[in-house]
Amino acid sequence: MHHPADTDMTHTLDPDDWQAFRERARSMLEDVLDYMEGYREGPVWNDPAGFQSALENAEAGAGAEASDAALRALLPYGVGNTHPRFFGWVHGAGTPAGLMAEMTASALNANCGGRKHAAIRIERDIIDYSLRTFGLPDTGSGLITSGTSMATFIALKTARDKAANFSIGETGLNNAPDLVGYASSGIHACFDRAFDMLGLGRVALRKLPQDENHRMCPEALKKAIAEDRAAGKTPFAICATAGSVNRGAIDDLRAIGEIAQSERIWYHVDAAFAAALQLSDTHRSKLDGIELSDSIGFDFHKWLQVNYDAGCVLIRDREDQLRAFSDRPDYLADAGRGLGSDMPWPVDFGPELSRGFRALKVWTQMIEFGPEKLAQIVDQNIEQAAYLAERVSALPEFDLLSYAGLNICCFRYTPEGTPDDALDTLNNDIVIALQEQGIAAPSTTRIDGKLAIRVNITNHRTQMSDIDILIEAVAEIGAGMAAEA
Ligand SMILES: Cc1ncc(COP(=O)(O)O)c(C=O)c1O
Repeated sequence: MHHPADTDMTHTLDPDDWQAFRERARSMLEDVLDYMEGYREGPVWNDPAGFQSALENAEAGAGAEASDAALRALLPYGVGNTHPRFFGWVHGAGTPAGLMAEMTASALNANCGGRKHAAIRIERDIIDYSLRTFGLPDTGSGLITSGTSMATFIALKTARDKAANFSIGETGLNNAPDLVGYASSGIHACFDRAFDMLGLGRVALRKLPQDENHRMCPEALKKAIAEDRAAGKTPFAICATAGSVNRGAIDDLRAIGEIAQSERIWYHVDAAFAAALQLSDTHRSKLDGIELSDSIGFDFHKWLQVNYDAGCVLIRDREDQLRAFSDRPDYLADAGRGLGSDMPWPVDFGPELSRGFRALKVWTQMIEFGPEKLAQIVDQNIEQAAYLAERVSALPEFDLLSYAGLNICCFRYTPEGTPDDALDTLNNDIVIALQEQGIAAPSTTRIDGKLAIRVNITNHRTQMSDIDILIEAVAEIGAGMAAEA
């Protein structure tokens, strides 16, 4: 019988000429390294309009040269978070060293949903390390996720299912208890989204008032729980914030955790960026009480500087997470030995089956830099934000709107003679101008109703001089705009 291998019909996507491929890869690597070495130079941000022609010229099937040209054309058009003056939202800056892990992960092309291979062992190692770091028991579990939004969803699904004796996954919410959860009004919007996706609705997340330090008010929490119980509802989750997105405020994790324990309600802590404080001898005490939590969500890609994307969920009791997510169709059965063994798999701890090897870059980041070096970045960023808050308070044409002692500082430019109702527009325009001129990239938010220039520093490249550049640019751009108005 004719065998197809006898003919030239074998198709593959591997290089025809490995020597030529090596040269191509080395040349691309050189260009990428040049780009990384120049992170500090150039504008913080380039409008992607400049990339439009590359998009239009990128024809499907145009070949390797066209593909590599498109990659080179892309390099100047990042979001800007690799630059020392990227201060917007909460973005980590990543490291050049991350490239080593990314290259290796790409070469392995591992599917990390499960099966018996080293990548799964590495992920478990990181989870075990993280559990220990936060003082959770070694009978806990967890998963590397795309970010804290996914970590939050996984943690709250586990909490939701546990509150209904793990029946909701099978029978849905129809006969389930009327579940409600609690957070301070400063909680991140990914919690509203999680409540929505869990079928509970956003109204089931009670947003509690904050105290004068923008922390969840324990008395308000106790009162809300009592009222909900009296109304026949079932409180199932208390969600504390360690590092609020607007101000960097940290709830009293111990006080809230003790209420959760005495009320027998699942205790979740959102430590998206502030989890990194746990590595710092100077700032660890700010997270006191985090070890009481039933679950924690945080990101490696924020203050821990791992290249995007890498978040993490930790759960105190492995059985809870397994019961919320694990099922075993025939094609994923435990084979006892060989590739189909080594249970449980990551798919048993979350909603995704196919998933990439995010754990590798986290693992090598910890091996190369270790907790002490990463903590130095955390300490340094807090000093920089404190310096910004101090300078802004001392300048007559600036108003400090919020500084909670961490890495986030909100302020605005208030030149004499500008009416109050024009300040929102002025400050919004200043931020846009800073971004468009490539000088710096803060973002905006509202603090007590006022539009604020929001500076978040989770960036190991930022230096004190970058803070000075920002302040001077705000004053210069702001004065020009005010004069024109
Ligand atoms: C406090 C807080 N929680 C949750 C999130 C969501 O994290 P991610 O963007 O990784 O999904 C963020 C993002 O900035 C955050 O600052």
